[in-house]
Amino acid sequence: MQKLRVAVIGAGRIGKIHATNLATRLPDVELVAISDVRLESAQDAAKALRIPKALSDYHDFLNSKDIDAVVICSPTDTHARIIEEAAAAGKHIFCEKPIDLDLGIIHRALAAVAKAKVKFQVGFNRRFDPSFRKAAEAVRSGKLGTPHLVRITSRDPAPPPLDYVKVSGGLFLDMTIHDFDMARYLLGDEIDAVTTMASCLVDPQIGKAGDVDTAIVTLRYRNGAFGAIDNSRRAVYGYDQRVEVFGSKGCVTVSNSTPTNAGIWDAEGQHRDLPLNFFLERYQEAYLEEMRGFVSAVLDGKDTPVTGDDGLQAVLLGLAAKKSLELNRPVKISEVAGHGTKGRVAA
Ligand SMILES: NC(=O)c1ccc[n+]([C@@H]2O[C@H](COP(=O)([O-])OP(=O)(O)OC[C@H]3O[C@@H](n4cnc5c(N)ncnc54)[C@H](O)[C@@H]3O)[C@@H](O)[C@H]2O)c1
Repeated sequence: MQKLRVAVIGAGRIGKIHATNLATRLPDVELVAISDVRLESAQDAAKALRIPKALSDYHDFLNSKDIDAVVICSPTDTHARIIEEAAAAGKHIFCEKPIDLDLGIIHRALAAVAKAKVKFQVGFNRRFDPSFRKAAEAVRSGKLGTPHLVRITSRDPAPPPLDYVKVSGGLFLDMTIHDFDMARYLLGDEIDAVTTMASCLVDPQIGKAGDVDTAIVTLRYRNGAFGAIDNSRRAVYGYDQRVEVFGSKGCVTVSNSTPTNAGIWDAEGQHRDLPLNFFLERYQEAYLEEMRGFVSAVLDGKDTPVTGDDGLQAVLLGLAAKKSLELNRPVKISEVAGHGTKGRVAA
């Protein structure tokens, strides 16, 4: 079978996860190069994973005939430019979330992808988590009846470094964006309006950088259901990732994953493991499955399982959540959409 020849751009936290999966767990892939502006990071990854080329500048391989696809794992403010360049070079593209923070730039990047007719997937890994997938399937099967309420709890164990916060787009576009995508994915319906309450309760430095670290965003779906997302940048007990969909005939819940399922009882009470600490551990399987989905979309000529429009819709929700906080009122997605929303949710 023909292998997909891939290059990874950015060898930081998420770049190393994808590079490891591409190099060691996906037999249909040949990971041929990795680049990072910090050459040492690329070289370390290349050495550990036996990747033939480590470079500081991705332009050095972008036009090479030896590469079919790129996996963009560099900081958010570099994504759109690299998407346009990769599309112009005819490479298929997997890009980490978010595509960009600016709608005009996102539309331009997606137009470049459409023009080049290359495959494009956004890194909404949580859709590939087996438990969340089962929850979405339960909703789609009709077993729960008509969905009425969605609850998503999403709390990080610790805030990211301030340098990351400053270029990330802030809580709604960096962190809640995963929950917005999950909210769309779980119900297979679009959100019509959001209302946000948020402030800085964890770290005043985050406030000084112009961001918030604690938030509740309520959602109103087009089909009439409601949702609530709660976020914190610091849960002292680990990565708190829970979901519930409540419908007219029942409900589905997904609780936290723990290293073991053992419960120990003593005179003080019951003791269980804390949740898996962060995204690397919690979504290990999901990261592999999303990349498997991308690779098979390219090799088999299928649609990618998460589209550019999914990337756009989640950013629209993030912008609406920000606006709601600023204006202290509910904000309809149409108020921030500009170019209008397509309104399709990939299953
Ligand atoms: N899907 C997820 O679960 C998930 C998790 C973490 C991060 N992310 C996203 O991935 C992106 C990277 O986040 P991270 O946490 O890995 O950040 P990071 O800071 O750990 O890594 C980014 C790396 O990119 C390198 N870099 C910067 N400019 C570059 C360029 N022009 N070319 C090549 N390399 C360049 C940096 O030197 C750094 O090593 C962000 O957009 C973030 O939103 C997604």
